[in-house]
Amino acid sequence: MIATTQQSDSSQPIVRMRGITKRFGGVVALDDVDLDARAGEVLAIVGDNGAGKSTLIKILTGVYQPTEGTIELDGSTFSMSSHSDAIAAGVDAVYQNLAIADHLTPAENLFLGSELTRSIFGVKVLDNKRMRKEATATLKDRLGVQLKSMDVLTESLSGGQRQAVAIARAVHHDNLRVLVMDEPTAALGPQETARTLQLIKSLRDQGLAVIVISHSLDDVFEISDRIHVQRRGRCVGVVQTAHTDNEEVLSMIVGTKTIAGEH
Ligand SMILES: Nc1ncnc2c1ncn2[C@@H]1O[C@H](COP(=O)(O)OP(=O)(O)OP(=O)(O)O)[C@@H](O)[C@H]1O
Ligand SMILES: [Mg+2]
Repeated sequence: MIATTQQSDSSQPIVRMRGITKRFGGVVALDDVDLDARAGEVLAIVGDNGAGKSTLIKILTGVYQPTEGTIELDGSTFSMSSHSDAIAAGVDAVYQNLAIADHLTPAENLFLGSELTRSIFGVKVLDNKRMRKEATATLKDRLGVQLKSMDVLTESLSGGQRQAVAIARAVHHDNLRVLVMDEPTAALGPQETARTLQLIKSLRDQGLAVIVISHSLDDVFEISDRIHVQRRGRCVGVVQTAHTDNEEVLSMIVGTKTIAGEH
């Protein structure tokens, strides 16, 4: 049975995915999945390996096209044919493999593909000073992260700091409204995990809709407002974190329990 996500409060979702099906040849990765995400909320997506979590958010971020189904942003239907379409619509993602360039500085990473320039005698040159200043400010003001030096290559940073650079690149776009994170703590130690969870909460408090895929139910219970459970390509329930527990979510993940409707 597929859960119907009922409105549990008055705020309209920013993201409404409806009837999303994705087939890769004969493989049904997603089967008629609905997903809502709201501003100022952390939505966790959980499920076993191969349950369709990454595929679902790759469809939201324009990496894959759905075989069937629709995506609405703020009530308007959106067709995202590329990741840049999604970024332009205010939706961006930070993946576990981070996709940041090790041989560049944090500021160069932040502005990769959208470099700031200034004009000297009519010739455009990179405005490194301004990029460095803005990158420092984004890291500090939005993420509460201060690197010892901004003049280092990203490869010399810790896993958590690299993650912060990747997140900073997403959030420094003024129009960002939906931030998706696939396994943000998977490669981090306990301290950096705690810092990343704190950072996710602060982005939520800044009004973003944050969607986090995680295999760690401890992390999920610490940061999320709602939990969307995927099993074998289908959504088997959406539960409010405050109204459920580890055991119930686990039983939904493994298929001994299905929740009809949000509770
Ligand atoms: N590009 C692809 N081509 C073919 N099959 C794919 C592709 N991407 C995903 N799949 C299949 O779709 C299903 C869902 O995969 P997906 O990566 O979304 O799972 P997941 O829930 O993110 O799993 P994990 O927890 O292991 O990351 C799997 O059966 C997978 O093999
Ligand atoms: Mg995945």
